[in-house]
Amino acid sequence: MKILVIGSGGREHAMIWKIAQSKKVDKIYCTPGNPGTMELAENIPIKVSELSKLVQFAKKKKIDLTVVGPEIPLIGGIVDLFKKNKLKVIGPSKKAAQIEGSKVFAKKLMMKYKIPTADFMVFDDYSLAKNYLQSAKYPLVVKADGLCAGKGVALCKDAKGGQKFLKELMVDKIFGKSSNHVLIEECLDGPEVSFMLASDGKNFISLIPSQDHKPIFDGDLGPNTGGMGAYAPVPFVSQKMMKRIEKEIVMPIINAMKKEGIPYEGILYPGIILTEDGPKVLEFNCRFGDPETQPLMFMLESDIIDLFDAIINKKLKNFKLLWHRGAAICIVLTAKGYPGEYEKRDEIFGLDKLKHEKNIITFHSGTKLDDKKLVTNGGRVLGVTAIGKDLKSAIYNAYKYIGKYGVNFSGMHYRKDIGKKGLSK
Ligand code: AMP
Ligand code: GLY
Repeated sequence: MKILVIGSGGREHAMIWKIAQSKKVDKIYCTPGNPGTMELAENIPIKVSELSKLVQFAKKKKIDLTVVGPEIPLIGGIVDLFKKNKLKVIGPSKKAAQIEGSKVFAKKLMMKYKIPTADFMVFDDYSLAKNYLQSAKYPLVVKADGLCAGKGVALCKDAKGGQKFLKELMVDKIFGKSSNHVLIEECLDGPEVSFMLASDGKNFISLIPSQDHKPIFDGDLGPNTGGMGAYAPVPFVSQKMMKRIEKEIVMPIINAMKKEGIPYEGILYPGIILTEDGPKVLEFNCRFGDPETQPLMFMLESDIIDLFDAIINKKLKNFKLLWHRGAAICIVLTAKGYPGEYEKRDEIFGLDKLKHEKNIITFHSGTKLDDKKLVTNGGRVLGVTAIGKDLKSAIYNAYKYIGKYGVNFSGMHYRKDIGKKGLSK
């Protein structure tokens, strides 16, 4: 089979690493890819937003299956376009991808079908929203409706903080049209879990739960990022809790979308908070999470092509996935300044030391080859991902190789507490 993976981050590198292990696969292309994907796939310089070029390429190369990593092409309708051209592709239709593209859409659907989520209000008028924030009870969460690379959400402790962020969204328009509508919602309390699953429109299979670490600093302090590290599985999500999430959230949303005439096919990732009143949805993503996919691919024992085939052929009913024992963890190394303006072109050292270690792999996110030298080229630079017999040993295996005696670059930052929440529960 010839496979095309669309994207250029750690998620796509991890998927390609897993796809490359399938005996069914002869050739992998990645658009546009990065220096890490280049070792396993042929990188083709087409941007994720160049939908017609991607279709032309897939037709020309007779691609058997395309896997879309990021949300932007999915929300832009890449799946509809590929299907119109009789190309097989993993992902939801443009209409179904709205579940991530518009938080208001997702919230209204959850409300209609009684799927547990935080109470909320929607505003499109700045002064009404401002007045509401003046007299509301805190803490509160203020969110932009559309995509903002994980930065369109603020947890506000008081009216001053809420109004400052509201002004940025609705008056200063720091995220443009994404904040034409703004949500103000109840702040949920409890541990957060990334619950990914594959759906064929009717049936689904859950992947093992994982946990992301969004804020930049240890102890969940500082501004939110795209994700500073993740581990899987999550020890405090019991089999019983998994069943409850499937019954109260997953099955109802899949049935709801079918009933609305927009069946969900592809990977669905609800972000969930386990509150005292049970699991509640924070948001839905229409794709694999990043960095969560990095430890997930390490844990997955089954051939991932079988999973993709089951989605395409609508055979997820009774489909089984095998997972390795133990746990896997990914520590994200970021460039100086991230999640604000960050430095680029710092040389990366030490990756060769890890090449022969079988329990560890470093997935590339924001790297670039500059005159044959590997340099930083993004906020999130690398995902050092390790497996171990349990979470504690996975953590040990990953951190051992970061720093002076392992991977490093000038200005490198990483959290020292990834996985800790899984140990203490
Ligand atoms: P979202 O893009 O909606 O997932 O929000 C980004 C992050 O903000 C989430 O991963 C949570 O950590 C946090 N968050 C969002 N909504 C809430 C909420 N209602 N209560 C508590 N935390 C939230
Ligand atoms: N890890 C967060 C996301 O992929 O949206």
